[in-house]
Amino acid sequence: DLLFGLYFGVSKCYFSIPLRIYPGKYNVSSDVNLTSLQRIALKTDGKGLSLASDPTGTVNFLDMVNNLQGDSGRGYYIEMSIGTPGQKLNILVDTGSSNFAVAAAPHPFITHYFNTALSSTYRSSSRTVAVKYTQGNWEGELGIDHVSIPKGPNGTITINIAAILSSDGFFLPGINWQGILGLAYPVLARPDSSVEPFFNSVVQQLRIPDIFSLQMCGAGLSASSTADPLGGSLIMGGAEPTLFRGSVWYTPIVEEWYYQVEVLKLEVGDQNLNLDCREYNMDKAIVDSGTTLLRLPVNVFNALVEAITRSSLIQEFSSGFWDGTKLACWMKGENPWRFFPKLSIYLRATNTSQSFRITILPQQIIPI
Ligand SMILES: *[C@@H]1O[C@H](CO)[C@@H](O)[C@H](O)[C@H]1NC(C)=O
Repeated sequence: DLLFGLYFGVSKCYFSIPLRIYPGKYNVSSDVNLTSLQRIALKTDGKGLSLASDPTGTVNFLDMVNNLQGDSGRGYYIEMSIGTPGQKLNILVDTGSSNFAVAAAPHPFITHYFNTALSSTYRSSSRTVAVKYTQGNWEGELGIDHVSIPKGPNGTITINIAAILSSDGFFLPGINWQGILGLAYPVLARPDSSVEPFFNSVVQQLRIPDIFSLQMCGAGLSASSTADPLGGSLIMGGAEPTLFRGSVWYTPIVEEWYYQVEVLKLEVGDQNLNLDCREYNMDKAIVDSGTTLLRLPVNVFNALVEAITRSSLIQEFSSGFWDGTKLACWMKGENPWRFFPKLSIYLRATNTSQSFRITILPQQIIPI
């Protein structure tokens, strides 16, 4: 799904906290630190790293490292070559939807688009298609064409493509992408689940394992861009071992539509928020690479802000700070992060009675 924090900030109507994404530390309850791993979303319920090795031996994950550009405020995109001859476009990676769609007509906020008339392999299906995201929507025509991914698995695939002819609030000022890659399950595909999603076609045609992993970097947590470079990696067919340390923890997919997961507990600092865990999963909890916000149900949001207010070391904030209507000031050269607690989200672990936690640092919550 699409929802960019850079454009919304703390927004009352969305009850959200801007989440700065960081190639950060995944602190898990058993003291395993998964550094440099942003998050791994799986198509199948993986049983461990063995699934990351490629049985066909034709996929070199290292060739896919750093194939994403972008940042935590505007999303992450990958270069693709679409049609014959190939037209190069940047495509936003979105685990919160299931259509592959590209601009097929000019728009004020994009520099170029996919010209279907210039592709000898483009076939229109004469079916219209429309998708609505949290932020923006588009309409277009369904077709098929050939696509290759320069920094992806080798080969050309024939895929369903939605040619975007009109849109509203979908392309935004300052973006450098012209299309969207929906990586979620077929049930979310429009107009219906018979439109095979992009990654399903890749798995079918290139015979790679039905797994992908995502690393999203560059939240500006570190002053040095070497320690925290922009961009990231979309590894198709597995997970690249050099991109993380420790073992991979898996969480069950509750239902295969979005990547719906189960949140068991929320902590502010060391303090358990202690809500009924149904509250955390209302109406669903999803892992969504197309969103730069951590979006919470209103009850959870209110409890969380209250807990942060209580545990922050600063008393003199006006209440307006906490609902996003007032700014707070810091001395030049100082930052407020030591005054704020961390936030930990606990997810159910697969095949154990354990959970593991994802810790979000104040740097990722408090925009300065
Ligand atoms: C693509 O094929 C070439 C030549 O066989 C190989 O060197 C390269 O590693 C492959 N790339 C990927 C991503 O598998």
